[in-house]
Amino acid sequence: MKIIDGKVHRFVKLIVYGCQMNRSDAERMDGQLQEIGYEATEDMETADLILINTCCVRETAEDRVYGKIGEIKHLKEKNPHLIFGITGCMAQKEGEKLIKRAPHIDFVLGTNRVHELARIVREIEAEHTHHVNVGAAETELPAGGAPVVRESKLTAWVPIMYGCDNFCTYCIVPHVRGRERSRSMEDILREVESVVAEGCQEVTLLGQNVNSYGNGSEESFAELLRQVDRVKGISRVRFMTSHPKDLSNEVIEAIRDGEHICEHIHLPVQYGSNAILKRMNRKYTVEAYRALVKRIREAIPNVSLTTDLIVGFPGETEEDFSAMLDFLREMRYDSAYTFIYSKRSGTPAATMENQVEDSVKHERLAKLMEVQNEISREINESLKGKILEILVEGPSKNDETVWTGRTRTNKMVLFQRREEQAGDFIQVKITQPQTWVLKGEQV
Ligand code: SAH
Ligand code: SF4
Ligand code: F3S
Repeated sequence: MKIIDGKVHRFVKLIVYGCQMNRSDAERMDGQLQEIGYEATEDMETADLILINTCCVRETAEDRVYGKIGEIKHLKEKNPHLIFGITGCMAQKEGEKLIKRAPHIDFVLGTNRVHELARIVREIEAEHTHHVNVGAAETELPAGGAPVVRESKLTAWVPIMYGCDNFCTYCIVPHVRGRERSRSMEDILREVESVVAEGCQEVTLLGQNVNSYGNGSEESFAELLRQVDRVKGISRVRFMTSHPKDLSNEVIEAIRDGEHICEHIHLPVQYGSNAILKRMNRKYTVEAYRALVKRIREAIPNVSLTTDLIVGFPGETEEDFSAMLDFLREMRYDSAYTFIYSKRSGTPAATMENQVEDSVKHERLAKLMEVQNEISREINESLKGKILEILVEGPSKNDETVWTGRTRTNKMVLFQRREEQAGDFIQVKITQPQTWVLKGEQV
């Protein structure tokens, strides 16, 4: 707390882990906190309120959070007025166990209670007591029109649905985020229109499985894409994540025909053998996935495809793993997020037989990454000399003169800045393609 010109200023440091959904929730938390007078700070030492928006998808994610919780203890000792709260997926999963383990936590707020943040902070400011508010995993949708402070002025995340009904056997998300609920199309379009009116160029529609948007109603994801594409002034539309079992031909056509819908589909396959896919409860086969990718590539020739892969799932054999590598070589993804299977208690895979040894998991991960990196590099290499349109984002981390932007296919391009501003569309010629980024020159 600082008093400047007789006015009290309070500061909040919000630490965010996990997926875009968590970052989007954090924007809604920031929005509420700003309304009750908090200003963002990067400095934990002077913060009046510290929040960690947590992720529990893998054990490593949880370990990181416990580390951070430990670090904050001494700040709390120095400043007893500091309010410290845990929000997000771990909060939803662990509830009051977190406070039992670390009593310097003042409150725990579940993912379904984000909209109650301001009220709880106010209550703790008034009477410094512990609060735990996680509620049932399945609750109504957060109200539309809630205040949001966005990370970027250029690109906006717009959640279109919450929760997940798929229950992949390794995954904790449906257990913490609850059943799938879709926002109404009207509500989503209103939000998209308002961010575009504020100058946003790009919108990313978010959900654990966007293809099942509107499940059971007239409102389909294909229709939503078509409507968002038509919003006046919008330049780019992105969406994630697509579950392969629900990606319909109608959605493929909407992407093909949409003027602003970017040619990039994040299409997690998770594994490349039927035995494992079945035990993962992914509800598609390698053959069905292959046929889907064929349809996508025929309809959208320049499409970039990215994926998520898990190694070390229980019962994974050398044959499975070698089938996975073959599948990867066949699919030729632009890039892939690769994960080591992490046991999540309460999920069916955690108690499956034949858990894979850590050393084997690490070896397989290294091999998988080697194969994928080679493919990513080759695909990027083929872009050498091509002229691509990018949306300029801003200076790169290390060099003020080198700026970054993204292609419609979601590839990061580095270039020497002349006079363009963030938000400009420019043409760049790719001169030095690399595995993760493309270097280019403005033309
Ligand atoms: N709903 C999305 C992503 C959810 S989580 C989808 O279905 O694709 C993001 C990724 O984390 C998943 O795609 C999966 O690859 C990985 N993941 C989830 N649970 C995991 C676990 N227990 N161990 C390792 N990786 C996991
Ligand atoms: Fe998890 Fe599967 Fe749902 Fe994705 S689709 S969030 S991996 S259960
Ligand atoms: Fe996302 Fe992690 Fe939760 S991946 S949905 S923040 S468990």
